[in-house]
Amino acid sequence: MTDGALRLPGAAERDFGAYNAAQRGRPVRPLATQATQLAGPGAGRTALELGCGLGIETRHLAEHGWHVHSLDADPSVGPALRELAGRWPIRHRTASLEEPPSLEPCQLLLSCATLPFVRRQRFAALWAAIRGALLPGAVLAVDLFGVRDDWAGGDGTFHSREEALALLDGLEVVAMVEDERDGRAFSGPKHWHTFRILARQPAAG
Ligand SMILES: C[S@@+](CC[C@H](N)C(=O)[O-])C[C@H]1O[C@@H](n2cnc3c(N)ncnc32)[C@H](O)[C@@H]1O
Repeated sequence: MTDGALRLPGAAERDFGAYNAAQRGRPVRPLATQATQLAGPGAGRTALELGCGLGIETRHLAEHGWHVHSLDADPSVGPALRELAGRWPIRHRTASLEEPPSLEPCQLLLSCATLPFVRRQRFAALWAAIRGALLPGAVLAVDLFGVRDDWAGGDGTFHSREEALALLDGLEVVAMVEDERDGRAFSGPKHWHTFRILARQPAAG
């Protein structure tokens, strides 16, 4: 993440350009590979990726047969996403998750290391839009940050385990991995407290 300060400013003002530029060449995130394994071949079905950054996971989804709608507030990733969209069924838009976007109904929704940067007062509307976009049987794969994360107390959204579980009410929780450790962020040393969530919307009927 790009900020050196532990007290993060409002997500809308944050500049993720340097962070995203530095992602070139890194491997696909495990959350994305777990999501595609769980969901099976895309076979032309619709996936959403919220906070796609440079598009590494967007491309992974497309390579697995998904038609991908990607979204990120950082305009600097536009050229990389446009290049990918020339070769794969990807539609990208530059937009903020803080103005609850209209989300395409989807069979897979992926968001790696992004939702916690949405301000708390905007999170409920966004989460309602996310839940509303999940078609029967859809896979939901998202990262949340916990309340003991170094960045908690800033303007983002941080959850206790109970709060994270409450968000998943009505979904089949396939995995919710809570991780807490000292490590590094893009900005330097950091104490991480995260939830890696894989869940599924119940099938209709
Ligand atoms: C830590 S980066 C993660 C990017 C990518 N998913 C990855 O795993 O490398 C967070 C991403 O969320 C985007 N982001 C942060 N706040 C946002 C908002 N309010 N609306 C849309 N995108 C946002 C940033 O531009 C950035 O690309």
